[in-house]
Amino acid sequence: MKGPLLSIENLHAGYGDADVLHGVSLDVSHREIIGIVGPNGAGKSTVLNAVMNLLQVRGGDIRFRGNSLLREPTERMMAIGISYVPQVSNVFPSLSVYENLIVGALEGTDLKSRIDEILQLFPVLRPRFRMRSGALSGGERQMLAFARGLMCNPSLLLLDEPSAALSPVLAYSVFQKIREIHETGTTMIVVEQNVRRVLQMCHRGYVLDSGKNALTGTGMELLENPQMGQLYMGGSFRESR
Ligand SMILES: Nc1ncnc2c1ncn2[C@@H]1O[C@H](COP(=O)(O)OP(=O)(O)OP(=O)(O)O)[C@@H](O)[C@H]1O
Ligand SMILES: [Mg+2]
Repeated sequence: MKGPLLSIENLHAGYGDADVLHGVSLDVSHREIIGIVGPNGAGKSTVLNAVMNLLQVRGGDIRFRGNSLLREPTERMMAIGISYVPQVSNVFPSLSVYENLIVGALEGTDLKSRIDEILQLFPVLRPRFRMRSGALSGGERQMLAFARGLMCNPSLLLLDEPSAALSPVLAYSVFQKIREIHETGTTMIVVEQNVRRVLQMCHRGYVLDSGKNALTGTGMELLENPQMGQLYMGGSFRESR
């Protein structure tokens, strides 16, 4: 395919009357893992919400396979090929693992074979298949959130802080799983607080600050860029080695 899978051009968007994003641009090519990092409140989640058309875009454009997404309702995104795993409330706790997976499927899917494929990627869910998801551990719940997000076999998967609130060991397994998901051919945008980890894994990264692009480059370039330390004021960037 020619051109990027997703391109965001000069995006202005926010909540109520206030803009949070003041001209953010980024693009994602087929089969890339793109990292988005930046200080708290920089607008990272807002970028994902804008792609999903969960808020009012006031300027700029978001294109997927060359077509503007601005008029696509959120409910159509899965069918278009975009799936979103938000940071919180990413599974239905009162539903079983099985029921959560079904919620993530597109109409007309051969459920038995898709669930089989998904359970091969997430074997930890197999013995918990009939369990209420509210009873899962934090790490298991995150795996279920990924699995649900992948049920519709998306071209683009958006992950918001997948390793947040997990122990270092579980966070490591989440990053491993992201690599495995990438190997199945899925393109991803990963928003992360765990700056080092995500920059070590992604092909390219974008650093946002106060609703604007601050730095961009390959993960390695950003890791070695002295401006990164300044942006984070010696905070999470240096400490998350
Ligand atoms: N639903 C909302 N209504 C009003 N303002 C919001 C809403 N969600 C976020 N904001 C504001 O928008 C700005 C950007 O928020 P956003 O959640 O995109 O930041 P973030 O980079 O994801 O931060 P974090 O690292 O803390 O998750 C913040 O100032 C925040 O207070
Ligand atoms: Mg956020």
